[in-house]
Amino acid sequence: MRLESASAYNTPARLFHWITALLLLVQYVLAWTMPDVHRDTKPVGLIAWHLGVGVAIVLLVFVRLLWRSMHAAPPEPASLPAALRALGRYTHWLLYLLLIAVPLMGWANASSRDWSVTLFASIPMPPLSPTGSPVGHALGDWHRVFAWVLLALVGLHVGAALFHQFVLRDNTLARMLPSHRKQAATKQ
Ligand code: HEM
Ligand code: HEM
Repeated sequence: MRLESASAYNTPARLFHWITALLLLVQYVLAWTMPDVHRDTKPVGLIAWHLGVGVAIVLLVFVRLLWRSMHAAPPEPASLPAALRALGRYTHWLLYLLLIAVPLMGWANASSRDWSVTLFASIPMPPLSPTGSPVGHALGDWHRVFAWVLLALVGLHVGAALFHQFVLRDNTLARMLPSHRKQAATKQ
């Protein structure tokens, strides 16, 4: 069996992971610094950036999931109790679900406001709800609520990574870090 599939996430999986994490960090900073959105707000400046980065996140997650469907995650350390293993897996799939649902809800809300949504401020994206749609309007509230749920889950996830690293000391974090392959390869 190839070392990569045995003990570490492959390079694209690690790149997808850290680019998503970076974009998500930027996205929360944008969300909290952009002006409040009201009925007559125009999607310019930081708001336009929030829409553009959000669309980039959801498209990236779709590509990432496509890649993931073709490459299984490396097996967890054998020492990990079954309950913790299951908790980790459920958390990861819930993270993926929210990484799709949260931006789509924001996008539907933007469409209901008749805002044009573009990728990289240039490529036009289709509307996800009709202008003035009550569902699109309500999804704006859910977008904000689930953005907090996503953040809480990321907090749990990062806490788990640190628990693995400093309490269980089971090398889990290294599976997602760039140095892993080099370290492991030198042991071969
Ligand atoms: C994972 C990606 C995203 C995250 C984490 C996120 C996070 C947030 C947060 C925290 C707020 C609340 C800001 C505040 O009121 O303080 C917000 C508002 C908003 N976001 Fe996003 N967002 C994401 C993607 C998107 C996308 C893709 C769009 C549209 C294309 C979008 C459109 C909006 C809109 C229109 C609002 C205002 C909603 C309202 O107040 O009714 N967001 N977002
Ligand atoms: C900031 C947003 C983050 C998101 C949305 C996120 C999401 C994810 C997802 C979905 C997976 C599962 C990968 C798969 O099996 O397909 C994963 C794995 C992993 N993440 Fe994150 N992550 C984030 C940040 C972090 C941070 C800051 C750390 C380190 C402190 C971290 C450490 C890890 C580790 C070690 C794994 C592999 C777990 C394992 O081998 O079972 N993540 N992450």
